Amino acid sequence: MEDERLNRLREKLRPIGQEHLIAFWDRLSAAERGQLARRIDELDGELFRELQADFRVRRASGGDEKSQWADLAARAASPPAMRLDGSGVRFTADQARQRGAELLRAGQVGMILVAGGLGTRLGFDQPKGLFPLGPLSNRTLFQILLEQLQAVGRKYGVRIPLYVMTSPSTDEVTRSFLSEHRWFGVHAEDAKIFCQATMWAVDDRFERILLESPSSLFLGPDGHGGMLAALAKSGCLADMQRRGLTQIFYGQIDNPLLQVCDELFLGSHVLAGSEMTTQVVRKRDPLERVGNVVQADGKVQVIEYSDLPEESARQTSADGSLKLWAGNLAVHALDVAFLSRAASQRNSLPFHLAKKKVLFVGEDGRLIEPEKPNAIRFERFIFDLLPLARQALVVEVDPAEAFAPVKNSDDEPTDNPRLARAAMMAKDRRTLRTLGAKVADDVPVEINPLWNGKLPAGTVITKPTYFA
Ligand code: UD1
Repeated sequence: MEDERLNRLREKLRPIGQEHLIAFWDRLSAAERGQLARRIDELDGELFRELQADFRVRRASGGDEKSQWADLAARAASPPAMRLDGSGVRFTADQARQRGAELLRAGQVGMILVAGGLGTRLGFDQPKGLFPLGPLSNRTLFQILLEQLQAVGRKYGVRIPLYVMTSPSTDEVTRSFLSEHRWFGVHAEDAKIFCQATMWAVDDRFERILLESPSSLFLGPDGHGGMLAALAKSGCLADMQRRGLTQIFYGQIDNPLLQVCDELFLGSHVLAGSEMTTQVVRKRDPLERVGNVVQADGKVQVIEYSDLPEESARQTSADGSLKLWAGNLAVHALDVAFLSRAASQRNSLPFHLAKKKVLFVGEDGRLIEPEKPNAIRFERFIFDLLPLARQALVVEVDPAEAFAPVKNSDDEPTDNPRLARAAMMAKDRRTLRTLGAKVADDVPVEINPLWNGKLPAGTVITKPTYFA
């Protein structure tokens, strides 16, 4: 029985040259053997072969990923976009708002929130969604966004189904956190959590899959693009179809200004006949750490900031403005039929390769800590669905209203909690002023989106106030 199992594993690993994964079998306990066998059973041998072949072809042709991105960036132009002033499309902003409102009222919109990341860069060792950010309320990112979703639902008289994606490192904590807080008011039957899968890593010559211990492969999250497969596998895609949802609003947990299920955005998406629409901001700096949404080879696509050569990033158009101006907010509208088509195609999303440091088990069974990047890791990105869409659209938004990414700790100059809180308060001050209040720029305020919005005439706000 035991021999049979070992033979089966060997038969699977031999053709792909990965028998070292069972090199320590004799030393493992029954439980460890079971665990290792499960991981090896899950390993997609065909995918390994395809990725390895791609890597070898690329290496043989001398072309690396970097030069491919540089070539693409050189061919890239501005994408088809609805600009802030409403230009670039054949409908008006009012028409788009109206269409978006109809769609929401008809209960055809759901939301995906990706929350697979830990707050590592933030100096927070928990899932990012648990980070307390509310400037006065100390509400967590989860609470901020989930309350926003309910406020939109109330406005249109519907309950908007929510699908939260976690990763193996955030799943358990997120589940207990959200259930402990009763999903901050989102109805349990409208809320689902699904977990993205993991992906193995290989050495930098793409020969061996790395072991993290004699009984386990090194496994990392497969990128937010893992959402596509996870959505189908978890039954969430079927749930969307069962509920009659036609469009999904997609956002990341790390943006407290996320314009959750925005009617203008959703309406523009539908009126343009787009299968995937993405929000962008005009980049403030050529080297800003946002993906670049471009049009190249007749398709809308994203060149990640880390892949864009500086020279391409600095290119300008005749009027002196940045040629590659559109910064990716990672906010998308996705047609459910398109999602389902893409999910049914094997490998519809490519893997991005990244060289990283990964602790691994050497041939003698001891753990080796590398001094420099020694491994290739693989991630899929959801924005790589854009070129697959029959029609795609880009919608420009005002960063002051829509984008305050929380990526770094306050020790860093950009994308930190201090700036995000300041942006939230500035936005809320603008709202209070439109409601007739007087509030100076140095008075801290915060609005809970579920607040009734009623202010006595002539209100003057002089001290920190949380409107809840
Ligand atoms: C990302 C985008 C970038 C965009 C920026 C806007 C990528 C590769 N880049 O950059 O183009 O301009 O956001 O803020 O997406 N996540 C998962 N599972 C994963 C990996 C990530 O759920 O396996 C989630 C994280 O929780 C986070 C989000 O995806 O909410 C973004 O991931 P992150 O790696 O922080 O991307 P950025 O470099 O910030």
